[in-house]
Amino acid sequence: MSDSDKYPADSGRRRFVKGVVGGATLAGVGTTGAAAVNTATFSSGKGGGSTQAYAIENTAGPAPRGMPIIPIEIDGDGFIKGIWPETQTLSQGGVEVQLAQVDDFKGTGITYSQDWFQYCGVQSYEGLQPDFDSDNYFRSDAGKYDWQQETYSSGDKLNIADFDDYAEWGNDIGQAGLGKPATGTWRSQDVENVIPIQVLRSKRIEKAAQDNDFLAAATDQGVLAWLNKCTHFCCVPGYKQSSDAAKFNAEDGVYCQCHQSVYDPFSIVQTLFTALPRPE
Ligand code: FES
Repeated sequence: MSDSDKYPADSGRRRFVKGVVGGATLAGVGTTGAAAVNTATFSSGKGGGSTQAYAIENTAGPAPRGMPIIPIEIDGDGFIKGIWPETQTLSQGGVEVQLAQVDDFKGTGITYSQDWFQYCGVQSYEGLQPDFDSDNYFRSDAGKYDWQQETYSSGDKLNIADFDDYAEWGNDIGQAGLGKPATGTWRSQDVENVIPIQVLRSKRIEKAAQDNDFLAAATDQGVLAWLNKCTHFCCVPGYKQSSDAAKFNAEDGVYCQCHQSVYDPFSIVQTLFTALPRPE
């Protein structure tokens, strides 16, 4: 696929708002606090149910949908953090439960909820507890890229200054100059279950955010982040991490080595899925 196919010069907005799965049936889903709570989950846990999330698009392979975006912000010192919504108290079947959710994320009209991340067991992780004590900064893991291993020790906070060469960066996989990635963790200090994330700083994302309200609110200076858990069977995929990706036309995408699912980090779509409830 050529660049112009992926990013038509004047239709970035259309590209970024397409793809509501079963859109006709979605009216109203995710627009109120109550809509994110599915009565079918009352007996088995907290929250979950029908959820509409923004995600990097799944373009090939067996994965059923994209991986959810983590909206980000960058502090005054350049450190990148994932936004965790404020905790609300909702009533489910007469029982009060806590849910981290904002119903009108930064004035976009989008409901951003922790439900976006409740799949593949992540719903039971410590970091998904609404009131888990975290500063929400993204921290480097051991690093899947040479530059990252040279720059960070495991646990260091990711900083925008370290992505300054994002317009040129490349490795020996795919095309250089699409964006500079890093891998890391979120809300996972001193816990057993680590939430894996990936960030990518790209001119393409910067440009697309100029035409899309949600991207403008969820990204900053071209930095996009997502929960890095394959929606197929929960492996941890990678952007430009596997030389095998080229066999599946995924050298410039996010490739899951387990069963060859491919995701496009330059195509942000809405997905509908049934989020799993947090265990009692
Ligand atoms: S493709 Fe199967 S776990 Fe990713």
